[in-house]
Amino acid sequence: MEQKKLVAQAIVDATDGQLSLDEVMSKIEVPKSYDLGDYAFPAFILSKVYRKAPQQIAPELVEKIDQDGFDKVEAVGPYVNFFLDKKSFSKNVLAAILQKKEGYGQQDLGHAGNVPIDMSSPNIAKPMSMGHLRSTVIGNSLAELLKKANYNPIKINHLGDWGTQFGKLIEAYKLWGSEEEVRKDPINTLLKYYVHFHEVDEKQPELDDEARAWFKKLENGDEEATNLWQWFRDESLKFFKSIYQKLGIDFDSYNGESFYNDKMDEIVDLLEQKNLLQESRGAEIVDLEKYGLNPALIKKTDGTTLYITRDLAAALYRYRTYNFAQSLYVVGNEQTNHFKQLKAVLKEMGYEWADNIHHIPFGLITSGGKKLSTRKGNIILLEDVLNDAVDLAKKQIAEKNPDLPNKDQVAEDVGVGAVIFHDLKNERLNNFDFNLEEVVRFEGETGPYVQYSHARAMSILRKAGNIDLENAQLAGLNDEESWEVVRQLSNFPAMVGRAVEEYEPSVIAKYSIRLSKSFNKYYAHTKVLTDDDQKDSRLAMVASVAIVLKESLRLLGVNAPNEM
Ligand code: ARG
Repeated sequence: MEQKKLVAQAIVDATDGQLSLDEVMSKIEVPKSYDLGDYAFPAFILSKVYRKAPQQIAPELVEKIDQDGFDKVEAVGPYVNFFLDKKSFSKNVLAAILQKKEGYGQQDLGHAGNVPIDMSSPNIAKPMSMGHLRSTVIGNSLAELLKKANYNPIKINHLGDWGTQFGKLIEAYKLWGSEEEVRKDPINTLLKYYVHFHEVDEKQPELDDEARAWFKKLENGDEEATNLWQWFRDESLKFFKSIYQKLGIDFDSYNGESFYNDKMDEIVDLLEQKNLLQESRGAEIVDLEKYGLNPALIKKTDGTTLYITRDLAAALYRYRTYNFAQSLYVVGNEQTNHFKQLKAVLKEMGYEWADNIHHIPFGLITSGGKKLSTRKGNIILLEDVLNDAVDLAKKQIAEKNPDLPNKDQVAEDVGVGAVIFHDLKNERLNNFDFNLEEVVRFEGETGPYVQYSHARAMSILRKAGNIDLENAQLAGLNDEESWEVVRQLSNFPAMVGRAVEEYEPSVIAKYSIRLSKSFNKYYAHTKVLTDDDQKDSRLAMVASVAIVLKESLRLLGVNAPNEM
């Protein structure tokens, strides 16, 4: 960034202040190819001022520009191309990284504003599927990114622990359940009951009425219903937490849908006071026609509440509790309509802060091109995926580095990290097919590849021994291979900014692959440890690569082992 300003200032000075610094900054381009320099200024912006053709202005501008800080400034057609002074540029970038360490890239976009992030939010009594993995890891990475940009993220697990499906589950348990069986293997057993319920109720629709009655009892605080529900919830949560622990992810709040049970009346009252509720075939709805949306169903005929009613209560609660700068919901794109409705109802209620609510949608994970579904029993279980990934990582390590200390811990870091990285490397909205072998590869655009690049940098530093890089007088670097690495390093703060603004962890994942690639290319061409006057600078660059790769992985929620 600093460097771009240097270029802009040189132009402002050379044009006697005809253009403002901001204006020039916004016009400066980064050429596609390096032989066109590091930055380019299109001179046609000045053709009105000077009443000349840009091809004529460019060479005249070059004459006037102070060349200090540049290797070269030259006119090519209507452009003025700037080649930065590689030595001083690299010196500055490396010194900044060594001094700031993992704080490099930190910035103040958020002014400490609160940002609740609704994430993961699996449904009780069902296994956590690959779909919930996406929400968990995207949400977690966004939290780390927001923190780095000086927001205060609050990670909320809005558990699906309320709703008509609990009526079904209780009904199923009453019909076919055994306490002993549930105790032995809670999640799978409860899922079995639930799936069985759906198989049977097609032929026996009266079961649905029974289930509805159970849910109504639950909403009214009936003791038997409440106890069963509490039991199912406790068992599920225990299981979910074991997965979160494996992923290394924690939450600030587990306030799920049931938390809003006693906050729903207020929502219905408010909607009534504001004259927004309408009756429609016995149910209560809010008409959203002017938003081009279907009506929001607030209360069913039997008086029980719905998913969106609980989300309205949650939105208001979060606003009151956190006075948020933004409120995020990391939820699959199949719920886009739901969040549009949610925002529209809040707007109708007169809450301007609804504009700060953002649905952060993401695409589907498929398997062999097919959609996954809990109801049909076609699911990939997250715990299986994580265990398989760790096993594969173990095998790879046994082949490549059998004497590695902490083998098991490294295999965990690599296996789990690979699954997380694979997810985050894809742009949020893309659908992708899950293929475990591809995820855990050590080559190509994978998590292990980035981890391996970091470990390689660490091993070079170990070989170099104790060198006080922080206080070394760096000579700077000017060869082609290191230039590519230095430029990548200098881009990191901008990448963090972009990832935050676009709510897109893939920006960082892709960046970490680019940096790894350029570092590996550099390493293949250069003997870092040769004694000459650039040795300290080369080591400083290796140390900087290690810092930035580790920090990139941390922002994604992936560990970076020092050896692998
Ligand atoms: N439990 C829901 C599901 O698994 C996701 C909940 C998302 N969060 C929310 N506030 N609606 O589909």
